[in-house]
Amino acid sequence: MTKPRRVITIYLPHREPVIIAAFTILLWSALLLTCISPLLPPEWFAGSQTGQPDIFVPNTQLASLAINRRVEALLSKMTLQDKIGQLTQYSAGEMTGPGTGRTDYDALIAQGQVGSLFNVVGAKLANRYQRIAVQKSPLHIPLLFGYDVIHGDRTIFPVPLALSSSFNPSLIQQVAHTSAVEASDDGIRWVFSPMVDIARDARWGRITEGAGEDTFLGSAIAGAYIRGYQGTDLSKPDSVAACVKHFAAYGAPNAGREYNTVDMSELTLRQVYLPPYHAAINAGAATVMSAFNPLNGVPATADPFTLTKILRHEWNFDGLVVSDFGAIRELIAHGVASTGAIAARKALKSGVDMDMMSDLYRTRLAGLVTSGDLPQSVLDEAVRRVLRVKFALGLFDHPYADETKPPYVATPQKRALARRVAEETIVLLKNSANPVPFTGKVLPIAKTTPVIALIGPLADSQIDMMGSWSAAGEPTDAVTLRTALQERCDWAKTQLLYAEGIAAAQKADVVVLALGESAPRMTGESSSLTRLDLPGNQERLLETITKLGKPTVLVLFDGRPLAIKWAAQHVPAIVEAWYPGIEAGPAVADILFGDANPSAKLTATFPRAVGQEPLFYNQLPTGRPADDIDLTHPPTGEDKYFSRYIDETNAPLYPFGYGLSYTTFEYSKLKLSQEKILLDDIMNPKPAHFFSTPSDIEVTTEIKNTGPVTGTEIAQLYIRNTGGSVEEPVRALRGFQRVTLKPGETKQIRFTLGFNELSYYNLDMNRVIEPTEYQVWVGGSSNATLGTQFEVTEK
Ligand code: NOJ
Repeated sequence: MTKPRRVITIYLPHREPVIIAAFTILLWSALLLTCISPLLPPEWFAGSQTGQPDIFVPNTQLASLAINRRVEALLSKMTLQDKIGQLTQYSAGEMTGPGTGRTDYDALIAQGQVGSLFNVVGAKLANRYQRIAVQKSPLHIPLLFGYDVIHGDRTIFPVPLALSSSFNPSLIQQVAHTSAVEASDDGIRWVFSPMVDIARDARWGRITEGAGEDTFLGSAIAGAYIRGYQGTDLSKPDSVAACVKHFAAYGAPNAGREYNTVDMSELTLRQVYLPPYHAAINAGAATVMSAFNPLNGVPATADPFTLTKILRHEWNFDGLVVSDFGAIRELIAHGVASTGAIAARKALKSGVDMDMMSDLYRTRLAGLVTSGDLPQSVLDEAVRRVLRVKFALGLFDHPYADETKPPYVATPQKRALARRVAEETIVLLKNSANPVPFTGKVLPIAKTTPVIALIGPLADSQIDMMGSWSAAGEPTDAVTLRTALQERCDWAKTQLLYAEGIAAAQKADVVVLALGESAPRMTGESSSLTRLDLPGNQERLLETITKLGKPTVLVLFDGRPLAIKWAAQHVPAIVEAWYPGIEAGPAVADILFGDANPSAKLTATFPRAVGQEPLFYNQLPTGRPADDIDLTHPPTGEDKYFSRYIDETNAPLYPFGYGLSYTTFEYSKLKLSQEKILLDDIMNPKPAHFFSTPSDIEVTTEIKNTGPVTGTEIAQLYIRNTGGSVEEPVRALRGFQRVTLKPGETKQIRFTLGFNELSYYNLDMNRVIEPTEYQVWVGGSSNATLGTQFEVTEK
């Protein structure tokens, strides 16, 4: 119960004149401040140049005095063994990596030797372990249960790469919140998500788990996940702690090979790879997972540069860092530790607080502390970080999950959300005219079509619709395309022929080919590929059926961009459905029949050939660009000396930001608020007032729906810096908006370019803006052509 508040009444004899006088003084002070503000030091108004106040606490709950007092009180009672127990984590369920051979968790928990379990799903099971910790362990410290809730816990949504194609952070926040509620019902208060690793290489199987190749979009989405999972208060029962992973730069393994080394300049690291982690931390992420990969010669699990200098000192991160699965032991294989004890010492000293599945902290830390090889203070600090998260989650006050909740059901409401999300993530890649003698475009398919053939290994596979990492989701909840189409054909009294061969296609008026990758085997962790064409004999099946000359739609279910050059040239319609989750079939059917108008755009570039990888739109410039090279013949003479391939163009098959709709959009009237801006105005933003020039550039443009149906366009703004001290990408996304327009409707939209959008790292690793010129484009993809420019000048 809340205490009644005391009400203090101040007696004012002549109240009105006093109020009027106070109001007048306030008004005049505000006016005076506005007028003299340009003369006052800018730091009085703004924080540092990064737009953050100078001492920024990313998660106020973890930094709170009340929590830290409780942590210190508990810490003072803990023995060395108790402390080490808090830094130890085991998987007590399905193995998502190599095991340790241990299964005696009950005994270890009772002795206080375990701080966290993962892969334990369900309130009953979690409570069973929790009871041992709370009732039997020496200090009754509750366990923290973690799980890979990546795109849903029970209600499985589209895979993260698909989610990012919506360019809709608030929708992603809603997905994360739904996942948090379900995970919490399952006894899980810690999700190993979001994966915010920028991925520019489609060979890497985990590209499916992130938001694609772009830093600006990836940062916006990272923050959305955190807000969705954690809400505003970690202690609420429907909040879970998020775990930002994999720190750092895990998405850039050499040659796209899983767990491989990452080697990159600090400039690229800071400019391209770190911002999404930072955005997640700034949004309050409570935990971080360190990565498997080495970065510039140092394994991420023992890297003080990323884990201490950047994460703790530069970003003020207060939460806990957990290793990835068995990664502390892997320091031995990396050749930076000759024994388990050295591995444990290096990891802890670098900033890894919790050992996931190496069993090295539990078995080696005591020896290291008693021998003096590891300062007690380093250990204590790690324990504090773990306890802070447990206190913030309210685990000490409410350790148990509610076992009385009814079992999960994919209710119509959950399905409706899953379907809407899936529809917003499906990308229409191609929609051309039907082959002669048919008329019109292939899509949408007429509802009166007499016979539809559905062919292909992904047409009726529930497990594949769930994508990789489908947590506690049940494949039986997934509705396949076959089921959804059958239902529609039954209503419409049309015939659906489902077959794996071509006989059905021969009899049909429209052919839908459901092809792609096997989700569990070919995508996600440890699923790197050297080929990106359709697997097995699917390419042959596609060619045979397309050559029949029927109106044909290729629906791709996959977790990465595939190299589908033949399809792009010959198949009249292509729909990229990714793995859409439990409402896969209905969502794809809605798109195929035009009940939903596709709006999603690619967040990972589609290559023409695997040899172009890593392929991404925001490349750095070359001195010999090959934009207009004639590739119809091998290079001769001067043609040769350009940055190009001799057997393929540099251009992607489908670029970043690309996606079609059943309507068309036209951009016009691109305008800037000013064509010149003073460096000082943009570096030291002052509050807007009557006499000052604005500190940001405002970009406006008009978009018109020029087609026949209502549609949503994802309007994108790109910039290029052409005069800085370091190279900047040939294009970089710096704004996006979803705009819904009726046929013939026009709307004006507005983007702002300020310090956050225009700054970049210089060679001293400072985020700066220099006197330079920026080009600006707006449009519906990274190939946008409507452009203008402005200058940043010193005077
Ligand atoms: C290894 C994966 O890299 C990581 O993403 C996951 O969270 C852990 N295993 C736990 O399953």
